This record gives sequence, structure tokens and C-alpha cells, in this order.
Amino acid sequence: MQPTLNIAVRAARSAGRILLRYSDQVDHLTVQTKSRNDFVSEVDRGAEEAIIHELRSKFPDHAILAEESGARGRSEFEWVIDPLDGTTNYLHGFPQFAVSIALRHRGRLECGVVYDPVHEEMFTAARGRGAQLNDRRVRVASRKILDGTLIGTGFPFREQRHLDAYLGMFKTMVQTTAGIRRPGSAALDFAYVACGRTDGFWELGLSEWDFAAGALLVSEAGGTVSDLAGGTRHFETGNVVAANLKIHQAMLQALRPHLNESLSA
Ligand code: IPD
Ligand code: CA
Ligand code: CA
Repeated sequence: MQPTLNIAVRAARSAGRILLRYSDQVDHLTVQTKSRNDFVSEVDRGAEEAIIHELRSKFPDHAILAEESGARGRSEFEWVIDPLDGTTNYLHGFPQFAVSIALRHRGRLECGVVYDPVHEEMFTAARGRGAQLNDRRVRVASRKILDGTLIGTGFPFREQRHLDAYLGMFKTMVQTTAGIRRPGSAALDFAYVACGRTDGFWELGLSEWDFAAGALLVSEAGGTVSDLAGGTRHFETGNVVAANLKIHQAMLQALRPHLNESLSA
């Protein structure tokens, strides 16, 4: 395994231990509200510190972009970190959450790790070297038409400016697929596309740290990731579709009638 991926895995395990240690004491955590429906606890912060400590001890010159502590340092190499993706689940004792760590070099994703400590699932990817789940190679599902697919999504529960457009998309997807799932951790939603548990995924308004690692997992697993218009602005807009090539095309086509001006940009 590459040294960067190795360290990212180690950092994800350290954070995962912290998440598990407090997972049965969530009622005693101090929770702050960052904005409506956006929560943070000392577990998010503690896990983030553990990750940064691990990465910095090996790569002191690399820059960091972390959800809770923001950006630090300037470098061609930048770690993008979500220490606890699925905080709302975590705070309710709903066992679907993950650590997400990605490394970008000059803006291009080089390696990514999504770690689910409850189910002991470590998803890893390195550019050009495929995607793995617990060291076994994974690939996206091979279905070719929307009929019969299982599709993941996330609800726009914070920013509701596109709620009507989203509900239109949701209706179409309910009508054309076998089922929709909203597990509650975007990082894992991408990982599940990468290993074929779901055939595709879409969500509006994500942040970079939610899916930087996940996007590399999907592309290294043979899938495609784009914005809602099929372009490459998903990290700018946070609006994203991920699936195998055929399902990706079918999803874009199904979602297109619901795009307003700002969603098609
Ligand atoms: C959230 C999760 C969720 C998605 C939200 C994210 P957080 O991340 O990924 O699935 O719907 O948009 O913000 O806040 O739990 O790290
Ligand atoms: Ca997140
Ligand atoms: Ca988070």
C-alpha cells in the first residue's frame, strides 16, 4: 500500500476508535448547533484532532482542509477530512456513520479512505489502483437500466432552497427504480456505490469533505461521478450524481426535467 494511503488508514482507525468509545454515551455529549440541523460534538472535534495529529506527524508540510477546524497550511498536497460523517445518525445511536479522509495533489484526488467502525469496513482507493473493501477489490454494480436498481440519496434537510426540485427528482426516482435509500452518511453512500450495494446515488448541497474520498472510491471502482448536468463542477456546487456509466446516464436523464437554472449550472 502507498505510504499516504497507509497513513490515512491509520488515521481513520484512530478516529474510528474515538467514535466507538463514545457511541454508547451519546446522551452525555455536549452538542452545539452550527446552523439549522447542523450539529457538532466533542467527538467530531476529538476525532478530527486525532486524524490531523496522525497525518501531520508523517507529512508536516501538507495542507489540511477539515470540516471542524477549517483550512491550515499551503501545499500542493491537501488532506480533506470529515472526522464523523453522519453526525445526526451518531447522536441518535443510529449505526451508520463514517470517517472520511482524502488526499489531493494539485487538486487531483490521489487516495481516499472511508471507514465505518461499527461494521469494521475500511474502503480504500488510490488513483489508478482500484478500490478495495477490507483489502478486497470492489467494483460498481453492472445493471444497465434504472428499472430494478437500488439508488441512494440524501435529503436537503438544512438548506431547503431546492426542496421542491429535489422532491420532483425523488418522485421520478421512486417511479423508475426498485427503491431509494437514505442511510445518512454521504461518505458511505459513495462507498456503497463503489462496492455495488447500491446502483447509484445523488444528493444536492454536499461539502467537499463529505465526498472527496467517496468520489475517488467510485471512480476507481469503475464508476462515474459528475454534477447534475453531467459536468465536473460537483466539488464546487456540492450537487452530485454517482453510478456506473449506464446508470449515471440514465439518472442524469431522469433528473434533467427537474433542474432549475441554478441546479443546471
Ligand atoms: C452529512 C451527511 C449526510 C448528508 C449531509 C452531510 P455530517 O454530513 O453526509 O448524509 O445528507 O448533507 O452534511 O454533517 O454528518 O458530517
Ligand atoms: Ca459530512
Ligand atoms: Ca462531519
